Amino acid sequence: MTHNQAKERIAALRLEVRHHDHLYYSKDRPEISDAEYDRLFRELVELETAYPDLLTSDSPTQRVGAPPIDELAKVPHEKPMLSLDSITDREDVQAFDTRMKRELETDHIVYTVEPKFDGLSVELVYDQGKFVRGSTRGDGRTGEEVTVNLRTIRALPLQLRHDSSPPAHLVVRGEVYMRLDEFQSLNRRMTERGEEAFANPRNAAAGSLRMLDSRVTASRPLTVTCYDIMAVSGPAPPSHWDELEALAGWSLPVPAHRRRCRSIEEVLAFHQSTDAMRESLPFEIDGIVVKVDRRDWQDQLGSKSRSPRWAIAYKFAPRKEITDIQDIVVSVGRTGTLTPLALLKPVEVGGVTISRATLHNADEVARKDVRVGDRVKVERAGDVIPAITERVPVPGEQRQDPFVMPDHCPVCGSAVAREGAYFYCTGQTVCVAQLKGAIEHFASKSALNIDGLGKKTVAQLVDRGLVRDLADLYRLTKEQLLTLEGFAERSATLLLASIERSKSVTLDRLLMGLGIRQVGQHIARVLAQRFGTLPQLMAATEAEFIQVHEIGPEISASLASFFREDRNRQVIARLVERGLSIAPPAQATSSSHALAGKTFVFTGGLSGYSRDEAKQLVEQHGGTVSSSVSKKTSYVVAGTDPGSKLDQAQKLGVTVLSEGEFTDLVKPA
Ligand code: IVH
Repeated sequence: MTHNQAKERIAALRLEVRHHDHLYYSKDRPEISDAEYDRLFRELVELETAYPDLLTSDSPTQRVGAPPIDELAKVPHEKPMLSLDSITDREDVQAFDTRMKRELETDHIVYTVEPKFDGLSVELVYDQGKFVRGSTRGDGRTGEEVTVNLRTIRALPLQLRHDSSPPAHLVVRGEVYMRLDEFQSLNRRMTERGEEAFANPRNAAAGSLRMLDSRVTASRPLTVTCYDIMAVSGPAPPSHWDELEALAGWSLPVPAHRRRCRSIEEVLAFHQSTDAMRESLPFEIDGIVVKVDRRDWQDQLGSKSRSPRWAIAYKFAPRKEITDIQDIVVSVGRTGTLTPLALLKPVEVGGVTISRATLHNADEVARKDVRVGDRVKVERAGDVIPAITERVPVPGEQRQDPFVMPDHCPVCGSAVAREGAYFYCTGQTVCVAQLKGAIEHFASKSALNIDGLGKKTVAQLVDRGLVRDLADLYRLTKEQLLTLEGFAERSATLLLASIERSKSVTLDRLLMGLGIRQVGQHIARVLAQRFGTLPQLMAATEAEFIQVHEIGPEISASLASFFREDRNRQVIARLVERGLSIAPPAQATSSSHALAGKTFVFTGGLSGYSRDEAKQLVEQHGGTVSSSVSKKTSYVVAGTDPGSKLDQAQKLGVTVLSEGEFTDLVKPA
């Protein structure tokens, strides 16, 4: 292929990929299969790799994010980004209509109505059809620049359609949000990794967009819709309806569900029918937005300081109902966390029958003081998992005893331990609820590295009772594997060979694979280096663990409680019995551990990372994170509103870092 041919092919492929992105992400109406799309996309990537001089930033392949930055830059908006007045009552909508008619001195007003998306507002700037800048709303005048992050959103065109003659300059307002199904699977992934789940799709969208590391944003399932032209070169469309049509014509995503209403009665009907379909929409909306359609009338009506006079948010009634708690049970998650769940007398909340609601954790139960038999309010406002918001006292009621967390796991009977507000089952390898997760972790690359033991296989092995603990893996026979779905002679032989290979393992990998809380790759190495052999490690006491450099009280407690548990000791004994041979640890490669030996303590809020992310970063570089400041602490990272740990650090003369300085330390050189 000549350079010129490559250039032409690349241009054609980009048009095609953009076209299909638009159909898929904005119109929800794909015309080709995923496989066909992948072929086009791959061909484009290959050509751009072969001809790097032809790679441009507006290529649909350039959505992967960029290295992290210190902080989000502030950018002034071209025009203030206003908010909306909101109402919930029918009478208020009628009053709005009356006001508009009086101001405009007419009886005939056309309104355009569309859903009010529950996400976060962004400003998008296109120059010569190219996406050049995007920012969050901020305080309305100045926002945070999130251009690189926005570029990772596939529904957002990096280049407006050439053939639609886009304006030279265009400023669009839209809403970034997350679909409900995507939100749920993101939360599942987060909790499986031991990270804290997002409370609702809006928080998930906001948290994901305002990342300092756009590569993380790229991994989050965000989408966007556009509903306002804030500025445009050349003539502006004469009505809001035409605005939306123009945006769609330029290939920007716009609300599909919208209507032009010729009377306020039609608006009321749209509100009602939209509320009814709310449950079946794949994303959260919290009302409708009613806008005077004609642009000249919008200009005539003008704005108040914070909101336009020509539009109003007509919200849905909060989805809250009152019911009784029949029982409080405890569910055990994949990582062993115990979550109290209220079993409710079934009640319909916003069209869905609710019979259980999460109580999050023991502190929440205590704070709300809810007990079995109590009357409570249940809400589904924005949250996918219904939550109990408050207790409704009933005069003269006889209340039962306060709820207490069980001290033994309801699934496996192992002891329950506590970490802050969270309680968890110490059973780990013997708790069925955790067994699947534990086996997957045990088999993972950085642990025992067993190839061919994927999620599906693990689930089958556990569900059929073929594997009841980690040691059972080493008893599997070919006949047993052949009974599993998706297994044939060859795959069974390969898996058995891989299991056999995993029998010679280094101590650090085994420790990592056992999935002891707080013991990741780095700590496993530290422990293996210090103790050398498994029997020596198992004989150590909590006090001895604390003596080890980098091992704090939390890790020590976690280790001690793990090895104290009889069943964990038995599993380990069986692993050895079945031929696991444990070699001394591989030599630590300290050169790649920029922060080896350094202990960090965090205080206050960080804007660019969650606490878990910050901790992971430290550990990735070989450091450790502790919860309390001592003379051994290397750095205290102070975010916004730091607590007493900052005073402690200053008293002890420990180096204090800002978030920016911390980022410098953990940023890859
Ligand atoms: S119009 C001047 N339309 O709701 C135009 N806003 O409560 C003002 N929102 O900050 C915005 N969906 O983030 C408009 N279809 C929609 C919307 C919408 C969601 C958000 C927007 C705004 C907030 C006001």
